[in-house]
Amino acid sequence: MSNWKHKHILDLSSFSLEDYKTVLELTNRFKLLPKSGSRKLPALQGRLITTLFFEPSTRTRSSFELAAKRLSADIQSFSPSTSALSKGETPLDTALTYVAMGADILIVRHASAGVPEQIANFFDKTQKQVSILNGGDGLHSHPSQALLDLYTLTHFFNSKKPSPENLAGKRIAIVGDILHSRVTRSNLWALTACGANVVLCGPNTLLPEDFINFSRKPPSGQTKDPIKHRGEITISRSLKEALIDVDAVFTLRLQKERMSENLLTNLERYHREFGINHENLKYCPRKVPVLHPGPVNRGIEISSEVLDDPSICLVEDQVSNSIPVRMALLYLLAASKNN
Ligand code: CP
Repeated sequence: MSNWKHKHILDLSSFSLEDYKTVLELTNRFKLLPKSGSRKLPALQGRLITTLFFEPSTRTRSSFELAAKRLSADIQSFSPSTSALSKGETPLDTALTYVAMGADILIVRHASAGVPEQIANFFDKTQKQVSILNGGDGLHSHPSQALLDLYTLTHFFNSKKPSPENLAGKRIAIVGDILHSRVTRSNLWALTACGANVVLCGPNTLLPEDFINFSRKPPSGQTKDPIKHRGEITISRSLKEALIDVDAVFTLRLQKERMSENLLTNLERYHREFGINHENLKYCPRKVPVLHPGPVNRGIEISSEVLDDPSICLVEDQVSNSIPVRMALLYLLAASKNN
């Protein structure tokens, strides 16, 4: 933990293997806390954590709030619909207002890519000690979701020791609306860093060919990729081909609210060709775990039968693991403030 260098968590492109290990180990310690008795740790007593969600959320916001409470922090939330945004206040001025009230960590979600980074840059320039955690920005990044996905998957492959090595050489399929998925962009950094080979699968309109280059050049703003050997990214237009030899499958919500034009003509056909259902899962070499970040469109990207089958579907684990993962992230950011 002494090697933790991140004041903010804006995306995962700058994460080293050591950073992933730190998050997974700390998450495991928080997950193993006794289930009975007091679940609270005094670690963040006196700290103020603010959730600045300019875009709707159920899972991310609630689990960050619960994680903060489990660490005994004070938590303050902001509701855009009843806020001064309607009077023309900007996201940056909203953030400034909460920092003036003493926020130590701002968790920021916004529909536009780059807003959490702009806020972080502003506070860095003015030498404010506040940390910014990206709770999802436009199509860009959703780092805490990718880290909870990573924990869930590494735990699935070795529940005694969830660590990056558990994914080395594994083949992971990510299927569906890749174009609009900030979760996929963050997962690509995390999974390939751990040596997993990722096959992206979807129709042309939802999966541009240039995704194949996603992690082939240094991340923007960096001269060097902190990961020496990343897993490969490939693209397949056929679910049958993508699921050959696969070890795990991620499916993604079809993000209709982000589609400015009709990118799909027929949802039944989409489900038939790219939906994760028991019929299509027969292409897998064996029973493999299915993950979905939520929220879900039942019967479109995933069938209810698969979603409600705990013997293959890890969605409940993803949600329950989100609390110790987010406790770990808050703990690490708070600790970085002391350094
Ligand atoms: N996965 C995810 O970000 O869900 P919410 O939009 O409910 O936070």
